[in-house]
Amino acid sequence: MTADKRVDFTVSAATALRGRLRVPGDKSISHRALMLGAIADGRTRIEGCLDSEDTRATMHALRLMGVGIERLEGNVISIEGVGLHGLTAPGEAINLGNSGTSLRLLTGLLAGQRFDSQLLGDESLMQRPMRRITEPLQQMGANIRISDAGTLPVHIIGKARLKGMTYTMPVASAQLKSAILLAGLYASGKTCIIEPAVTRDHSERMLAQFACVPTHDGGQICISPQSLRAQDISIPADISSAAFFMVAASIVAGSDLLLEDVGLNPTRRAVMDVLQLMGADITLEDEREISGEPLANVRVRHSRLKGIEIPVRLVPIAIDELPVLMVAAAYADGETRLRRAAELRVKESDRIRTMCEGLRAIGIDVEECRDGMHVRGGTVAGGTVNSFGDHRIAMSFSIAALAASAAITVTDCANVSTSFPEFAGCFRSLGLPIIITGARDV
Ligand code: S3P
Repeated sequence: MTADKRVDFTVSAATALRGRLRVPGDKSISHRALMLGAIADGRTRIEGCLDSEDTRATMHALRLMGVGIERLEGNVISIEGVGLHGLTAPGEAINLGNSGTSLRLLTGLLAGQRFDSQLLGDESLMQRPMRRITEPLQQMGANIRISDAGTLPVHIIGKARLKGMTYTMPVASAQLKSAILLAGLYASGKTCIIEPAVTRDHSERMLAQFACVPTHDGGQICISPQSLRAQDISIPADISSAAFFMVAASIVAGSDLLLEDVGLNPTRRAVMDVLQLMGADITLEDEREISGEPLANVRVRHSRLKGIEIPVRLVPIAIDELPVLMVAAAYADGETRLRRAAELRVKESDRIRTMCEGLRAIGIDVEECRDGMHVRGGTVAGGTVNSFGDHRIAMSFSIAALAASAAITVTDCANVSTSFPEFAGCFRSLGLPIIITGARDV
């Protein structure tokens, strides 16, 4: 599962992005469909499930716990659900690689099992904060140990009796909310969560697909233990992956690109709102819904962007797209100010630090703040940028190169395959210039 760390991307300026592109399935929704399919009664089929290192980490964990998962023709995943109480002891420590979503959601799922389990990950995952997850689960009665630093490894001792509770989340985190909801399936009584700000609601929507509808009660999201019914699920294209090409088409002169089947859940789509506030030319076509999630084709044409103050309420719902939005800011006229985004410091890298360093390396004037950054748009030069093994940083700077005055080499890009293994393939299908060195299969 560990990626080859020597992969570098070299990207030079493009003439225009034209045509159509369908990026792969949504990562967040794929994880949830796999996990709920595993504990449902009956066979679940998932169409359009993302095949990446992170979703493979979730599949690996579920298989270790006795779940039969098969890949059928036409990118369909078939899961033999074992029922709410059918998971079995994994028999070894579960290594989740780079995947924060697998780690946080599985911790919630495992807290209420009858067996012990241990979770591990790669160097980046081993540093990610876990107390935010383990503390509320312990309040529910879970028996969990983590390191003194509040990080992996996670040891979960089975046979704990979980009790429902009402929990006010101290951070706006969909992973935390989802971990508690999953634990709530195994708790006595009702489990309710109060969010400090709206976060992505894919867990709530996916639970409803599996016939377990969380209730919304005076600002609280509540769940009670109940069995899940297997489902056929279709997954829209990942807006977080599409976002790279939304920015690319916005900054490259002459572009007119149609991104197909993009998931447009209102709790995920703020990247479009931010780009539109910056002056981007984005229109929606063929809006529809599949498996409880809204989607549409998104048409993006080149336009002149202007710097803005990113509205604070949009920060949690554009959290994964903020790096590439900072690339858009580098091309905008004037200053873009991003604040109240301290969560970026605890992602796959410290994304405030890594974006500021990278933007400076390509000639952009940027000021780092405790909880964000101020980016002054200017001329983007060529250069070398270290992605620090963070997939979204690697892809953001590859996009930055598409309208730069010289080529940009982005180093340490192997982890692009954690979320978007077809990234380079999408470049090629649009005729965009990318040279990959040291690659196996990105
Ligand atoms: C995710 C939630 C977000 C996001 C991550 C995926 C999810 O994390 O950054 O990439 O699928 O629930 P937080 O919940 O920590 O904000």
